Amino acid sequence: MAEAREAGPEAAGDGAAEERVAVIGATVPTGFEVTAAAEVQEKLGSASRISRDRGKIYFEVPARSLPEVHRLRSVDNLFVVVEEFKDYQFKETKEDALKDLEDLVKKLPWADPLKIWELNNSLKKKKTKRKKQNLQRTASKEKLDDGGEEEKDHRAAGGQEDCAPNTAGAEPAADQSAEEMQGEASQNEEDDNEQSEAKNKLHASSGAETKAGDDNKDEGDAKVLKFRVTCNRAGDKHSFTSNEAARDFGGAVQEHFQWKADMTNFDVEVLLNIHNNEVVVGIALTEESLHRRNITHFGPTTLRSTLAYGMLRLCDPQPTDIIVDPMCGTGAIPIEGAMEWPGCYHIAGDNNPQAVKRAASNICSLLKKNENKESSASLGAPLDIIQWDICNLPLRTGSVDVIVTDMPFGKRIGSKKKNWDLYPACLMEMGRICTPGTGRAVLLTQDKKCFAKALSRLGHIWRKNHTVWVNVGGLHAAVYLLKRTWERVEEKRSFW
Ligand SMILES: C[S@@+](CC[C@H](N)C(=O)[O-])C[C@H]1O[C@@H](n2cnc3c(N)ncnc32)[C@H](O)[C@@H]1O
Repeated sequence: MAEAREAGPEAAGDGAAEERVAVIGATVPTGFEVTAAAEVQEKLGSASRISRDRGKIYFEVPARSLPEVHRLRSVDNLFVVVEEFKDYQFKETKEDALKDLEDLVKKLPWADPLKIWELNNSLKKKKTKRKKQNLQRTASKEKLDDGGEEEKDHRAAGGQEDCAPNTAGAEPAADQSAEEMQGEASQNEEDDNEQSEAKNKLHASSGAETKAGDDNKDEGDAKVLKFRVTCNRAGDKHSFTSNEAARDFGGAVQEHFQWKADMTNFDVEVLLNIHNNEVVVGIALTEESLHRRNITHFGPTTLRSTLAYGMLRLCDPQPTDIIVDPMCGTGAIPIEGAMEWPGCYHIAGDNNPQAVKRAASNICSLLKKNENKESSASLGAPLDIIQWDICNLPLRTGSVDVIVTDMPFGKRIGSKKKNWDLYPACLMEMGRICTPGTGRAVLLTQDKKCFAKALSRLGHIWRKNHTVWVNVGGLHAAVYLLKRTWERVEEKRSFW
């Protein structure tokens, strides 16, 4: 309780709070932990520790760097670490193990992490206020333009969601989120692990002295902090479920702080991450995953922007590079590329006119969103979208530096059977347009067998340098970094 009072609203403007060092935990696309750590090192100068729990990294930063932390491109969700136990000894029986978790609550050092959380809130409030103003301006402009996108799926409105109030339900863990986006599987591969999130189901009275929400909901108890606990558990040696852990840990949190439990309209989300014997308690700093930054018009297999960033980063884009996504779908990769590497020229295409339309709409929405910002994106995007067939690209031989694409897995898009013809044809045509000797390609697929066969046939054009194993929507997929050999490829036909 004492800690809750310490985390009073004055912390937001507290200079000392800004100097505090925060241990930040970040969920990242599984497989891209090293890439995310490299980004943290480059942009924040902090070394990261990669967790045994795949898909997470930890790093320390001064609290004043929180805005930069939120601008990281590889991270899905952020939290401030309250305490980490590398080798937590769970008692054998369920009752004992849960009792220990309950008892843990009052021993944890909550005060500093809660100050970081408050500071984070004050930054968010400023940002939301700016965004609301920008949106109002854009909305009134739109009325004048009568522009309207022709097609918006149910998430399109949510595309402006980073301006939306605190939504119901926690953001799923990184992998679950990918599943929703990629939609290619319904079952997580780690069947024996319980990675679902669970929320404590408590209804309690109030009493704490702070309130973090930025709206006027529930004015009557405006000073009551509402919270929920989300537990992610993986490992087969626990005697309890994530639901039980969240319920009992949540009960103790409520008792300790006298906060009010609210599953949907919460101010504080306490995270309890249990991975075998590793236990991390944290407080969420993001309300929704940061991977949703660019896309407003979703398709059946839209890639997360964070994964797109990781793929682009793997091929080390250089200023003036020409980067092509020949199967761009809704444009997640080229849009991320154009935003993050504006010194490169990005070309993208797809054979499906619907996909091309969606990609174009995504670019328009993003440009509109950035209209009022003083960013390079407000000047336009170095990106063109074309309808084409990957087997017959209207690009000159050897004219492209980098290819980054997310190939049809043969589940939602195309079929495994079609891939046997498509993959070798793709590799051949990509080999033709790519500069011999220096060109590189980063290709994502889950159809690894077909890809390996196609690559073995085209080994004279492409050399495999590196493979990153990723979890895309619960599917075990691979990202291949290929280097173009010096071998020339004959032009079989030409637009030129
Ligand atoms: C896995 S999806 C790409 C999803 C994309 N990364 C996104 O974020 O939406 C594969 C894409 O390849 C496209 N495709 C399939 N065969 C193609 C071909 N022969 N030429 C061009 N695009 C093709 C599909 O239309 C689909 O949009």
